[in-house]
Amino acid sequence: MKVLVTGGAGYIGSHTVVELLNAHHDVVVVDNFCNSGPVCLKRIEQITGKAVPCYEGDVRDTALLHRIFDEHHIDWVIHFAGLKAVGESVAKPLEYYDNNIGGTLKLLQVMKSHNCKRIVFSSSATVYGNPERLPIDELCAVGGTTNPYGTSKYFQERILQDVYNSDNGWTVALLRYFNPVGAHPSGLIGEDPSGIPNNLAPVIAKVAIGDLPEIGVFGNDYDTPDGTGVRDYIHVVDLAKGHLAAIDKLTSAGVYIYNLGTGKGYSVLDVICAFEKACGHKLPYKILPRRAGDIATCYASSDKAKRELGWEAQLGIDDMCASLWNWQQKNPKGYRS
Ligand code: NAD
Ligand code: UFG
Repeated sequence: MKVLVTGGAGYIGSHTVVELLNAHHDVVVVDNFCNSGPVCLKRIEQITGKAVPCYEGDVRDTALLHRIFDEHHIDWVIHFAGLKAVGESVAKPLEYYDNNIGGTLKLLQVMKSHNCKRIVFSSSATVYGNPERLPIDELCAVGGTTNPYGTSKYFQERILQDVYNSDNGWTVALLRYFNPVGAHPSGLIGEDPSGIPNNLAPVIAKVAIGDLPEIGVFGNDYDTPDGTGVRDYIHVVDLAKGHLAAIDKLTSAGVYIYNLGTGKGYSVLDVICAFEKACGHKLPYKILPRRAGDIATCYASSDKAKRELGWEAQLGIDDMCASLWNWQQKNPKGYRS
């Protein structure tokens, strides 16, 4: 298969490109590098021994997209490109809707005109808002989103479903990721947030390496075993493999929705403890007030992905922390190291 990966130089995209290449798929990347850089593609080449053709540009640039589809016979698109910082989306809703929804609209228009009708979309557990039950299955209500980033994911899912409703020849996979963490075992690619990270795992890694003084724990008064927020952390390599399972298994048209998680919930203090084991020293933390918009507990039922895609997460929290620490040590300043 020839797969166009939008946002393929980003965190999840780069790990997925590696797995696609390892499985002998052909890959073409388009990325405007707004949250990544070309060095990541060099690292992918180091890992796989294969150079990936990359078009530097924006998925909203239809002329560029037409050129890519003219130059390659694309069988599948995996669409990662988008902005993803929850807090920033509250401050910049227009940028988020323009980039995320605008990008998806342009991409779908160009795909349609080239008769390419197979797409895997990066969605998120955030579409469930405050979940109606736990573990969260794919039939739980969606749409109670609390920020423009989450709302953009919900809208994009709706757009993709409407496209299928208008033409039942499309194959649409909506993959709802839980909390991706960790890095490739080589330590050559990983998450490289710019500035002070928002997410827990990169904050912990930066405290461990000495870049940040302490971890701020957002609330210890939730209705959870230790009072801190519980999430379903999934190793990014497992997540990447979920995309392969989708393109391998989804051979007939339809809209397919899958949660990609492990089914296990870990609290903030559990994750700190697991990371201390990985890095071999204690990590200072301080309890802070709750962060606005956070929910107490979120973990997946991934039974449907197991049943229909034959996919199941293989790696646990210790693997996630060890691989993140390996990446952090080898690249203390990310790709700028
Ligand atoms: P990332 O920022 O590392 O990767 C996104 C990539 O897309 C970057 O390389 C960026 O430069 C590129 N990009 C952004 N806008 C673009 C545009 N208009 N045109 C071309 N390239 C563009 O993020 P990630 O963590 O790898 O996330 C990938 C996808 O998965 C995103 O859609 C994100 O919303 C979704 N997702 C991420 C998480 C998470 O916690 N990381 C959770 C759920 C869903
Ligand atoms: N947390 C802290 N301190 C920090 C950062 C986070 O205590 O410095 C806590 C949060 O309160 C939460 C947990 O750690 O309880 C996880 O928070 P993250 O920011 O790492 O992740 P979220 O669950 O808030 O959201 C992430 C992505 C979203 C995505 C969602 C999918 O940021 O884009 O996972 O479940 F939609």
